[in-house]
Amino acid sequence: MSMSLFAESERCVVPEFREGLLKWVGNKQKMAHLIAAHFPKAFGTYYEPFLGSGGVLGTLAPERAFASDVFSPLVEIWETLAQNPSLIKLWYTERWEAFVSGNGREVYENIRDSYNRQPNGADLLFLCRSCYGGIVRFRKFDGYMSTPCGVHKPMPPVSFGARVDEWATRLRGTEFAHLNYLDAMKLANPGDLIYCDPPYIDSQSILYGAQTFEIAELLEEIARCKRRGVFVALSIDGTKKSGKKKVEFPSPAGLFETETMIDCGKSMLRRFQRRGEVLDDDIVADRLLLTYSLD
Ligand SMILES: C[S@@+](CC[C@H](N)C(=O)[O-])C[C@H]1O[C@@H](n2cnc3c(N)ncnc32)[C@H](O)[C@@H]1O
Repeated sequence: MSMSLFAESERCVVPEFREGLLKWVGNKQKMAHLIAAHFPKAFGTYYEPFLGSGGVLGTLAPERAFASDVFSPLVEIWETLAQNPSLIKLWYTERWEAFVSGNGREVYENIRDSYNRQPNGADLLFLCRSCYGGIVRFRKFDGYMSTPCGVHKPMPPVSFGARVDEWATRLRGTEFAHLNYLDAMKLANPGDLIYCDPPYIDSQSILYGAQTFEIAELLEEIARCKRRGVFVALSIDGTKKSGKKKVEFPSPAGLFETETMIDCGKSMLRRFQRRGEVLDDDIVADRLLLTYSLD
């Protein structure tokens, strides 16, 4: 099906929503409304097959959505949010109380040990909110979570509980699944919209642990989706070092109709690598590529 059928679609207008539930490398919370402004105004089911902390999903709050990720402890958090939000609050409160009433760093390290013995959503939830710089990173060969304790005090359970309620409401139309993106994208039908936010091709795959991801395979799947009339939007590395470094991207001819840049601000990852030092040349911009045209 030709995408020109959809060429007259207007843009989607979505208000900014800054209160993230989880912290995650590559999180799009801050710029989610800018990304969603490039979505068609009308679409069927919304798919997010590289869910992470769901910045765009939470901002969009779609009526019907299918959200998935290959990382199972993360999906356990999302599934629990959908089925039993009180349990998410309890997971957080128990760990927060231990953290503030004892030696916080030691408590954090015990939680991290518990996670590394047996990866699970309950520990990951607290770790992502309390780790250094919110940079949850994993050793590539065995998935060991290695980030040290943050220097900040994690938010109190009352504020976190309010976020849980807000997110549970926003995501009430979403079904969650633990799936490789290829299996998720195959489920989309003509007129549906898929937003892909894969690991950065330049640097990020190592941070999400023992996962395999090949950009060429994703591009082939996007082409198949486009052929059957599914809208696809893809975020991928654009420029780094405040525009001085442009990341090469092998975009197949004719696959994308629109390319735009989304300003992501200062790189949190670089800040973590430099132990908090903030540099003016660390501004990053992502490419947003669309298989359809809007105007
Ligand atoms: C850049 S992050 C997504 C960030 C997200 N947009 C957010 O706002 O937090 C990429 C995500 O892709 C997931 N991922 C990596 N390889 C994958 C695969 N083969 N299939 C599905 N998900 C994958 C990672 O677990 C990670 O959560």
